[in-house]
Amino acid sequence: MCGIVAYIGKKEAYPLIVDGLRKMEYRGYDSAGVALLDQELSIYKKKGKVQDLENFVLNSKIKPTGTIGMGHTRWATHGEPSDRNSHPHTSGNGDLALIHNGIIENYATLKDALIELGHTFKSDTDTEVLVHLIEEIQKKYDLPIEEAVKKSLEKVVGAYAIVVMDKKNPDLIIGARNSSPLVFGLGEDEFFLASDASPIIKYTNKVIYLEDEDVISIHRNGEYKISNLQNKTNNHQIKELDLKLEELEKGGFDHFMLKEIYQQPATIEQSMKGRLNASEGWAILGGMSQHINRISKSKRIIMMACGTSWHSALIGEYLFEEIARIPVEVEYASEFRYRNPIIYEDDFIIALSQSGETADTLAAIEIAKEKGAFVYGIVNVVGSSIARITDSGSYIHAGPEIGVASTKAFTSQLSVITLMALYLGHERGKISEGYYRQLLNELETVPRKVEQILKKNDHIKYIASEIKNASNALYLGRGYNFPVALEGALKLKEISYIHAEGYPAAEMKHGPIALIDMYMPVVVIATNKSAYEKIVSNIQEVKARKGIVIAIINEDDTMIREIADFFIEIPAIAEPLSPLLSVIPLQLLSYHIALMRGCNVDQPRNLAKSVTVE
Ligand code: G6P
Repeated sequence: MCGIVAYIGKKEAYPLIVDGLRKMEYRGYDSAGVALLDQELSIYKKKGKVQDLENFVLNSKIKPTGTIGMGHTRWATHGEPSDRNSHPHTSGNGDLALIHNGIIENYATLKDALIELGHTFKSDTDTEVLVHLIEEIQKKYDLPIEEAVKKSLEKVVGAYAIVVMDKKNPDLIIGARNSSPLVFGLGEDEFFLASDASPIIKYTNKVIYLEDEDVISIHRNGEYKISNLQNKTNNHQIKELDLKLEELEKGGFDHFMLKEIYQQPATIEQSMKGRLNASEGWAILGGMSQHINRISKSKRIIMMACGTSWHSALIGEYLFEEIARIPVEVEYASEFRYRNPIIYEDDFIIALSQSGETADTLAAIEIAKEKGAFVYGIVNVVGSSIARITDSGSYIHAGPEIGVASTKAFTSQLSVITLMALYLGHERGKISEGYYRQLLNELETVPRKVEQILKKNDHIKYIASEIKNASNALYLGRGYNFPVALEGALKLKEISYIHAEGYPAAEMKHGPIALIDMYMPVVVIATNKSAYEKIVSNIQEVKARKGIVIAIINEDDTMIREIADFFIEIPAIAEPLSPLLSVIPLQLLSYHIALMRGCNVDQPRNLAKSVTVE
């Protein structure tokens, strides 16, 4: 949450920083701000999106100049979204400017102490406290700015990625991180700091991922030093990124979300590349094969995640239990980390995260590792914190996901988890050869079947137009499709602001049925062959109360198409693989409903893509 980008080099920094902020906007869009240093320190900041900042600068006819600068896009934690709470924040003497992603947990104590010393504050933020603290420490101990930053951070409890600029040091930027990501980009005579590599990649593919407690000083002449709070110098390896600029553009689609939905045939295929060969009869993941003895002997799997990734984990529970016959517990990372969980050394812990930066998931991993468990990461963003701290793992290779509502990352996570379950089940001899082969074969057909579903877009758009004015919606599913119901409901509520709930179909009669009337759309995922009659009964129960049934059915369905108000056909597939298909129409349905209600699909209110605060 909150996006950071900073530049030092020979070019005008403002256009470059604003361009970078647009790429960072997925991390928060409550306000945007830029600081530039050109003899004077100039700050431009505005509540709202990066576009609002640009308009403000354009209308004010100021020409922003300076070859050193930094920008911030905010997801508000302390203090409402407003101009005065926007970053950058400045020190009392106006010499220092600071941007921050994270939360300074002990800000109140620090603020009281600083007020005692005569400091006055202009904002309600924790960030402003930090820049005043640096000023105070610099003055008190007469320290160079780098040392003052370090000494101040020693007093800070919380998560941060920060960049500091100092009017008295116009050839220097300082960055630091703890629990929030910060990447250093090394170009030709120009250097960058950013929350991720997306604003950097246009200029260089050489990066260093900073680690917790790293502080970096970057000089305009290219000299840089990374050391930690204990003053130990860190020589991190420079990594070469394999990220293409076009992956960060909409590529002809109206929205990133739509592009990402349509990318799924390719991204699912990519996630299985080199890992599955149905004709030769194998599924294997490099990250698992290195540790397969240990993993095969695990008595229990614990899957930890947040949001959509948690829904993938829930499907993982069904997959691992059925195919590999290992008991699975699925945990919200935020709950797991605070309840003194019981973890055994022979547990196999799987952490799922698209961004690889979710604060709660990171903390839960640390706890599992402290207790001696083996932690496996299933991550999308290459080089992210979770990818680096886990013992092993598999990337899902979905490419950058920019729409705040997760779509392609979900299906790629599912395909990777399915491969893991198949590999483990086969290795442990818990799946019959025939069923193993069948699932491998069917898995290879998924990308083509997703393509077929995407062709139903116009029909799904029509259904969206019929139910777009609903205030509530219910999503029902059974077995493998219960977590898909949760995911469908989440997609709808997060981008259209319609209240929606997902339920196991049979649970409907224990509460939600009371809500059903002629205005209530009920989306039923009705593809499960094993519980077909039971789902038909559930649909009858909804119809008896005049609910509007939208059923996801198989092409060979005979009964449900007769009773549902609307239906969307999807190709048949073995049940463990069905979530990979059944979620696609739900993504499109939410997309169209949100659009018809005039919502900002890619940047829904109050949400952010990378949740680096708890
Ligand atoms: C946020 C995003 C969701 C995502 C969740 C977990 O809420 O908006 O799309 O599912 O965080 O993020 P992760 O990166 O750990 O998968």
